[in-house]
Amino acid sequence: MKRADTAVKNIKKGSFKILFRCIKYLLSYKYTAAGVLLSLLLSSAINLAIPKVMQIVIDRGITLRVPRIIILGSGLIIAFSLMGALFSFIQGYLATRVSHGVAFDLRNHIYEKVQHLSFSYHDRAQTGQLLTRATSDVDLVREFIGRGVIQLLNALIMMGGSIILLYNINWKLTFMVLPVMALAFLIFFLFARIISPFIKIIQEKLGLLNTRLQESITGIRVVKAFAREVFEEERFAKSNRDLRDINLRTGKYIASGMPLIFAMANISTLVVVWAGGYQVLANYLTIGELVAFMSYLMMSMFPMMILGMLLMTIAQAAACAERIFEVLDASSETVEKPGAARLPPIQGKLIFENVTFRYFKGTAPVLSRISFTALPGQTIALLGATGSGKSTVINLIPRFYDVSEGRITIDGYDIRDITLESLRRQIGIVLQEVILFGTTIRENIAYGKPEATDSEITAAARTAAAHPFIESFPQGYNTVVGERGVTLSGGQKQRIAIARALLVDPRILILDDSMSSVDFKAESKIRQALEDLRRERLCFVIAQRISTVRNADQIIVLDNGKIAAMGNHESLMAESPLYADIYYSQLKPETAG
Ligand SMILES: Nc1ncnc2c1ncn2[C@@H]1O[C@H](COP(=O)(O)OP(=O)(O)OP(=O)(O)O)[C@@H](O)[C@H]1O
Ligand SMILES: [Mg+2]
Repeated sequence: MKRADTAVKNIKKGSFKILFRCIKYLLSYKYTAAGVLLSLLLSSAINLAIPKVMQIVIDRGITLRVPRIIILGSGLIIAFSLMGALFSFIQGYLATRVSHGVAFDLRNHIYEKVQHLSFSYHDRAQTGQLLTRATSDVDLVREFIGRGVIQLLNALIMMGGSIILLYNINWKLTFMVLPVMALAFLIFFLFARIISPFIKIIQEKLGLLNTRLQESITGIRVVKAFAREVFEEERFAKSNRDLRDINLRTGKYIASGMPLIFAMANISTLVVVWAGGYQVLANYLTIGELVAFMSYLMMSMFPMMILGMLLMTIAQAAACAERIFEVLDASSETVEKPGAARLPPIQGKLIFENVTFRYFKGTAPVLSRISFTALPGQTIALLGATGSGKSTVINLIPRFYDVSEGRITIDGYDIRDITLESLRRQIGIVLQEVILFGTTIRENIAYGKPEATDSEITAAARTAAAHPFIESFPQGYNTVVGERGVTLSGGQKQRIAIARALLVDPRILILDDSMSSVDFKAESKIRQALEDLRRERLCFVIAQRISTVRNADQIIVLDNGKIAAMGNHESLMAESPLYADIYYSQLKPETAG
């Protein structure tokens, strides 16, 4: 219940502002929206006119026995009904167009935003929650815009119109039923208040369920390897149960509102029959007026009922909109400065100046005071124990994260002063965790340069020692790889990722442990091929094998986020006990390989 309380506060704080923001999305569809409004007004006016015609038919036609009026009136009612139906249809159709348009825009905005959010956002974000926001949350907001807003307007027009007409027919009777109406309204309002916090919880639980689903499906191989299917099933069942229970609880509240609504409608009918009947007997009211009065009464009660349910739709939409705007408003930690310059084609002189970095503010730094200069054409190797900060160093170069202190410059440009695109376009990176897309090998390699020709693609694949194994597949470059590349071996994946990085012909090439799964022979092939390429570019290599780093121009030995030693192989062998240690521990397997 505590969570529900905080949800209430959240909803109260800004529901209107948030919904107003949703309504602003309507501006792109203003003509269609105006059409919706117009057809709504027309159909409401027609519906409001029907009881008036009925009143005339009864009082002038039936009571005074004038068949012509009865026939004419009936014809008019039929015509009005048909017209009302037509306008309702037009309104419904246009409203659907508008709401799907808004949902389309919202989904695109979320996707765009998610694409541009920084690494640190995605480090924390749950995929399932993001999926729920882009699908279910958007859908509920669409529901609100497509039906909610229309029904709200419709209810207000019908309520206002029928109350005026009630008053017009008999003000005394109107004042008698007004308290019942006010009471009914109050009850619905309270209901919506009680239910709205649950809605937000429902969406959160749905997000959690999606996260579980997504995680266990992408990790299905681990689940099976450890025979944890039953555990996963139970965990999913629990999330699923939670979701069902909260839905049931909400449903119970909603259901208990219905009898109350009918009770209110019946009470007010009773008041009218009793007091109105009395007035008819006293000749203050005609039968036609009484019938019209009853019709208008229902017309005003019905919207109230809808309004009660609408308050729920509104609460729901507000909760969902809040979750959507949370994503849309999330600030990216690596942002471009306004008017950031484009980085011109670079030579590749990269300098780390006293760089200190923390993944989270206030925590101990992962990198402390890292300084080094890398010159064009050099190969820089990073060496160090697991967790010493090697990947972190290279993640700072394409600005996946921003330095906490110090600065990084490329050809003299502070990388925070230039556009992300112009920076990243000149960097080819093979991440430690290779991710391929579920498409053909060709498209995967050409990911960074979709316009690449076949010969460029095969050249890159040859350099990465990937061409032979790709050719050995029956479908060659058109082989479709599984999601995230699961149908390939670890070493094959790495080689495709290297080809992908090489294809963009980057000025700075970064290989993060990219040959860890590649056998020794293939590795030396790749190394030889890279040898020719690397003269014209700056290369960063992270590797576990000394053989990979041995020929590097500079080897940076990291220890616990600090530079323990720096130099080439010979100088390090002479000066750094840590390096010599690593060297001797690896000597054996290497000579064996
Ligand atoms: N996204 C992240 N958020 C928070 N902390 C992180 C993140 N990535 C890495 N770290 C932490 O930063 C430290 C350095 O990690 P890093 O990945 O740079 O190590 P590494 O030298 O590349 O190790 P390995 O050889 O295992 O790849 C580790 O203590 C790790 O826990
Ligand atoms: Mg690493």
